[in-house]
Amino acid sequence: MIITGTESGRGPILVLLHGFPLDQSMWAEQRRVLSNHFRVITPDFQGHGQTPLDSATLSIDGMADDVIAYLDHHQIREPVVVGGLSMGGYVALSLVARYPDRLRGLLLMNTRAGADVPETARVREDLAQLVEKAGNSDLIVQTMLPRLFAPATFKSQPELVESMRQVMASTSASSVAATSRALARRTNRTPDLPNIKIPTLVIAGSDDQLIPLSESQAMAAAIPGAELVIIPDSGHLSPLENPNATNAAILGFLERLA
Ligand code: MLT
Repeated sequence: MIITGTESGRGPILVLLHGFPLDQSMWAEQRRVLSNHFRVITPDFQGHGQTPLDSATLSIDGMADDVIAYLDHHQIREPVVVGGLSMGGYVALSLVARYPDRLRGLLLMNTRAGADVPETARVREDLAQLVEKAGNSDLIVQTMLPRLFAPATFKSQPELVESMRQVMASTSASSVAATSRALARRTNRTPDLPNIKIPTLVIAGSDDQLIPLSESQAMAAAIPGAELVIIPDSGHLSPLENPNATNAAILGFLERLA
């Protein structure tokens, strides 16, 4: 299906892929600043934001196919820079492995290359069944929200926490269930990392409760020539918790690419 996307600015294309269970609104600060230099495209994955859930079965590779279908539909054939946060990063890694000619730069933010361990996959299936039964996303809000931000962010930016809570709560139970199962079934992309041939920037949050810094360091070390930037005062949502530092890191990387 053709997913919905928001576009701003003109110039070289930067596609930003959101995390779970969020939507493209998480990129507001990047769109505002980076669209002065780039054509910034922020799609909503199926079942998130403005894109309906088209199929009860989702996969990370299918989400990557949807991004390519979006580019094709908009006659974008030039290689683009793709950035993904967490789940968006899993999709970006699928894109670079499966459509290497469509990318010229890669931004991996608050994400990992490995697949779920069996215990995590089981927890996701339990969660999928519970939200389906409840018919709402309350459980994912309760379990994930406390871990999405750096502990300090809950006190320093309560409006930001509240706005993301609302986005999470508005993601339907069927979308949360289908996406949780897609996350649990995703491919381990660790063996692909040494084959990445395009410039890559890895961004990590100094206080990410979901992705330990050591994993971001190992991922950056495995990708030839990759850079690593640690964003201070941020947890799993660096582009929202510390947009100035994140935008500076992204801009610096994109300027070096040009
Ligand atoms: C995300 O932020 O996209 C999620 O943490 C991804 C995941 O649960 O693996």
